[in-house]
Amino acid sequence: MTSQRESIGVIGTGYVGLVTAAGFAELGSHVHCVDVDAEKIARLNRGEVPIYEPGLEELLARNSERLHFATDLSGALEHARLLFVAVGTPPTHAGDADLSAVHQVVDSMPASDGHALVMKSTVPCGTGASIRRILRERGKDAFAYVSCPEFLKEGSAVRDFLHPDRVVVGDAGDWAGDAVVGLYEPLGAPLVRTDVASAEMIKLAANAFLATKISFINEIANVCEALGADVVEVARGMGLDERIGPKFLQAGIGYGGSCFTKDVSALKLLAGNSGYHFQLLNAVIEVNELQKRRVVSKLQRHLGELAGRRVALLGLAFKPNTDDMRGASSLILAARLRSEGAHVCAYDPIAEEQARALMPELDYASGPMEALAGADAAVLVTEWPQFLDLDWPEVARTMRGNLVIDGRNALPARDLQAAGLAYEGIGRR
Ligand SMILES: NC(=O)c1ccc[n+]([C@@H]2O[C@H](COP(=O)([O-])OP(=O)(O)OC[C@H]3O[C@@H](n4cnc5c(N)ncnc54)[C@H](O)[C@@H]3O)[C@@H](O)[C@H]2O)c1
Repeated sequence: MTSQRESIGVIGTGYVGLVTAAGFAELGSHVHCVDVDAEKIARLNRGEVPIYEPGLEELLARNSERLHFATDLSGALEHARLLFVAVGTPPTHAGDADLSAVHQVVDSMPASDGHALVMKSTVPCGTGASIRRILRERGKDAFAYVSCPEFLKEGSAVRDFLHPDRVVVGDAGDWAGDAVVGLYEPLGAPLVRTDVASAEMIKLAANAFLATKISFINEIANVCEALGADVVEVARGMGLDERIGPKFLQAGIGYGGSCFTKDVSALKLLAGNSGYHFQLLNAVIEVNELQKRRVVSKLQRHLGELAGRRVALLGLAFKPNTDDMRGASSLILAARLRSEGAHVCAYDPIAEEQARALMPELDYASGPMEALAGADAAVLVTEWPQFLDLDWPEVARTMRGNLVIDGRNALPARDLQAAGLAYEGIGRR
């Protein structure tokens, strides 16, 4: 099978690019990876993995002879027809997607009639059309273009690549779309083959819908608190309805991560710039921002003034099993606590290095018990598995106060209460 698989290029070796490269190498392709970050490429060439993603290190090691890393495009252009683009598209200050890295890639393409750009980066609907226009204007109209948005989730990215819910391929119905479909064929996933604009929109709409589900259940949680209902019971009862489903109905302290935050904002602005006021997304964003701050009011309700209080944060990454701190709720929460004068001591099993770069002013503990020692209150920010079965009587002894805010409704409330801790979740009775 190896000899029949076509070689590909992957431009950008971050979370998406590296997982895509390792995944296609696992399926038998030679993969020529390119990144402008020379340090990252040097580390990859030494066999080091610059990001934390379960299973990725093993996958890269197992396929090392099929993976090639360089800072220039020549190897990719020489050996591959399909050049997957997985560079970052972070938000601009205005909230739109910053496409400068994508344009850098487009600018670096030579005139060619045998290559295609395959866009994995999340880009606004209309980007494919504008890239094809640019290529045409530069006499590079033979360059094919495919939109192939990525749906992997950090923390389970390798599994998501190998077992996708669906593969979306948006193209002009030419050889390049067929070739991308062929690459994904062994995975046996449902295929949505469509036009470029619809493929771009599928990605944005999917993320916006998931974010909407989260903000919706968070608002239900807030109403539950006012009315004495329990959002966990409510979500269970809702989620059993096949039309609703149980996923993304976990109330908490808001969604984070690089994707939801930026993609929801980008879709809202994209709609606005084309003359449509996307009212629902305004609310989704606002609810999420307020939700991150609600923990501070909960702490104040129990402790009064937070000045001089010691608050332990359990977890900092935007979700478990990743070291990604982009858009993490902990950033807002820690900043708010500090501005109230609280002393914040945090622990995260994987994301500490990234967190220190963004929040050098926090105290970092080397384990959960050290973070909790002498704390007036603790907040579960990221539901890493090791926080869910702490020795609660020991926690009660080591803390100065007894308040534990469960920001993810993930802790065993009864065990905490039995240990003498005051448990408060989000939207729980
Ligand atoms: N992270 C996710 O969970 C996820 C999921 C689905 C889609 N996406 C989308 O995929 C894209 C990439 O996201 P990511 O999280 O992997 O980003 P990332 O920041 O982890 O990686 C981007 C990589 O691109 C490199 N790069 C930047 N400019 C380059 C250039 N001109 N040439 C070569 N390399 C260049 C950077 O050095 C970096 O290594 C984004 O558009 C994102 O929205 C991300």
